[in-house]
Amino acid sequence: MQILLLTSSARGHAIAESLSKSSHNPDIISISPRSNPGIKKIAKQEYVSDLMDFDSALDIAKKHDIDFAFIGPDDPIGAGMADALDSIGIPSVAPTKSLARVETSKAFTRNLLEQYGINASPKFMSFDRADPELLSKYIEQDLSGEFVVKYDGLRGGKGVKISGEHLNSTEEGVKYAIECIEECGQTVIEEKLNGVEFSLISFTSGTLVVDTPAVQDHKRAYNGDTGPNTGGMGTVSDANHSLPFIEQRHLDRAKEINRQVAAALQEQCGVPYKGILYGGFIITREGVKLIEYNARFGDPEALNILPLLKTDFVDICQAILTNSLTDDLVSFHEKATVCKYITPEGYPNNKDQKGQQIEFPEMPENAELFYGDLTEDSNGNLILGGSRTAGIGGIGDTIEEAQAIAQGLCEQVKGPVRFRDDIGTKELMQQRVNTVKHLFS
Ligand code: AMP
Ligand code: GLY
Repeated sequence: MQILLLTSSARGHAIAESLSKSSHNPDIISISPRSNPGIKKIAKQEYVSDLMDFDSALDIAKKHDIDFAFIGPDDPIGAGMADALDSIGIPSVAPTKSLARVETSKAFTRNLLEQYGINASPKFMSFDRADPELLSKYIEQDLSGEFVVKYDGLRGGKGVKISGEHLNSTEEGVKYAIECIEECGQTVIEEKLNGVEFSLISFTSGTLVVDTPAVQDHKRAYNGDTGPNTGGMGTVSDANHSLPFIEQRHLDRAKEINRQVAAALQEQCGVPYKGILYGGFIITREGVKLIEYNARFGDPEALNILPLLKTDFVDICQAILTNSLTDDLVSFHEKATVCKYITPEGYPNNKDQKGQQIEFPEMPENAELFYGDLTEDSNGNLILGGSRTAGIGGIGDTIEEAQAIAQGLCEQVKGPVRFRDDIGTKELMQQRVNTVKHLFS
């Protein structure tokens, strides 16, 4: 069996490792924008090529007898890599361009939910006319000045601006909304929600949906959820596959929303969604609301989820492609995980440490190390890139235990790097529990 893996990053390393553990013993043919020493070790062949260069990807694919492709990141999925591979007879575990609008267009998703009566959106409106009066009226009168302005496309996690955080007045909100309209033709302005976020990622094959454990990401750069937003500094999952601050009714509702959205997507686009459907949810006083969808695995969420998989990942991928996904095919160890990203000291503000060396400790049985933005030089030394370097995951019976494992290993990493030592701590988990309690008191 030959699997084409298009990805780089620690998420890609985790996907490669899970595929390689399969009883099908697949050969992994990888395409990455730069060599990833983790994926390279696992792959039969590693090609270095830009993932947005479709001609190059198709040329590589044609050189091999590929059974299916797995596409990791949002950019090639959003641009239609699954459609391109399909045109040469290769099915992909990733949605087509049309279905991937669930991630690439905030307006598409909000309108889809509205059209199919899925009650999970905050108050919202999309605008395609740069009319300052209309925009400021909506912000002030309809949303009472508590608002979020969203770029209607992929923008590397930097397209969302929130009042009180990035936008300090209606004028600033209007200015950013106009910038979005001028750049991508459209913006979504919506009510600012307050609560606690979590991710629920589901394997999806049309209307067949099987969930993975709920995970919480930590997007802010520094301890105490301070500093700029990042791609995600670390993630937590619990042994019961929920989280201490999630009530069963809230998890059930998130699961139901993922199912309703998968079915709505199929009806709307006329083809089944075959891939990973990532729901970003928030628990609010009014119940569970949808923040956003992604059409792929989260990074770092995949670093928590995939190492817990008991069943065969290739079997799951094949079932996604053949519309035969069942609950029996997907089973996870009942363990907690805490993943912390090691990043260069200057991340995300500068790339001053790029090019410097980094060393990792040996990983024990109950831990995982996945390589992100680093390279290997000709002497076998690991060299920092400018973005998130590597994810270190601890696996334990409790979040506390998994946290201690990840923390201990992160502390032994040598190089000009940092990580968030509060992720997964009892104190931070308790804060989340208290926030949700407070919402309903
Ligand atoms: P997105 O790119 O849609 O994931 O948004 C990035 C982050 O912005 C989310 O993880 C949330 O923390 C925040 N966000 C997005 N939409 C809202 C909203 N309506 N209310 C509050 N926060 C939001
Ligand atoms: N961890 C957030 C994301 O992958 O988008």
